[in-house]
Formats: sequence, C-alpha cells, structure tokens
Amino acid sequence: MTKRLQVYEGDGIVVTFDPNVCIHSAVCLRALPAVFDVAQKRWIQVEGAEPDAIVAAVAKCPSGALQTVRLGQAVPRGAPPTAAPVEVTPRPNGPLLIRGPIRVTKENGEVVDRASCSLCRCGATGTAPFCDGSHNRIGFKSPS
Ligand code: FES
Repeated sequence: MTKRLQVYEGDGIVVTFDPNVCIHSAVCLRALPAVFDVAQKRWIQVEGAEPDAIVAAVAKCPSGALQTVRLGQAVPRGAPPTAAPVEVTPRPNGPLLIRGPIRVTKENGEVVDRASCSLCRCGATGTAPFCDGSHNRIGFKSPS
C-alpha cells in the first residue's frame, strides 16, 4: 500500500517527504536535528532552522525521499542546466544511490523526476524501482 506524501510548509520553504522511498539512512536526523526529529509527533519542524540550512540538509538525503521547494524565489530563466554528471554509488548491502538530477520511468509508465534517489537491487522493495528499506529486513548482502 502506497503511503501518502507528507508536506511541511514553513516561512519561505516547503519540505516534502515520500515515505515510500525512504531508506532510513538517518542522514537528515544527523544533518539537522533541530528540524528532523523522529521523536516528535510532527517529525519535520521547518521552523527549526533557516531555509538555506534545510535545503543543505535535504540535499544530503540519499534516497530523494526528502525534497524542498523554496517559496517566493524566482527560477532564473535560461539558466544553463547543471553540467555535473549523474553519480551512481552502490551502498554496501543496500540500494544504488543516484545523485542526479534523474528521471525514472516506472514499469507502469509513471515518470518521476528527482534530484536524487535510491534504486533497489535486492528485489524486495514494495516501491519498485525505488528502495524502501526492505533490504534491511531480508538481510540483503551485496555481491562482492
Ligand atoms: S535495496 Fe533497498 S529495498 Fe531493495
């Protein structure tokens, strides 16, 4: 069953969280604990830091489950696309981490654009082709 997208709006920024593709790396919790705290009922507190700090922390999310939208900032027209290459890194005993931007076409034809994502390589995910953390449950061991 697909879980709904969580949306947290603050002053000048919106943070979204897609629980279907989170790999539970806890990178966000370590990067900015004043904002990301699973001990709180509302686990993302956008008022806990300045938008720039939140954007920087979310950029570290290896799965792309966290995304940000800056409010009130114009996107420069004609800005050149990033020339940085897409990075693909296998996580030991886990998914392929993709640092994009990347466009993924799912088996059902749905197109998903992400700044980053994690692709399953264990076969146990319920959110294919994205990793949902199931590799931990099944004890997946990556080939050596
Ligand atoms: S690699 Fe994470 S669910 Fe398959």
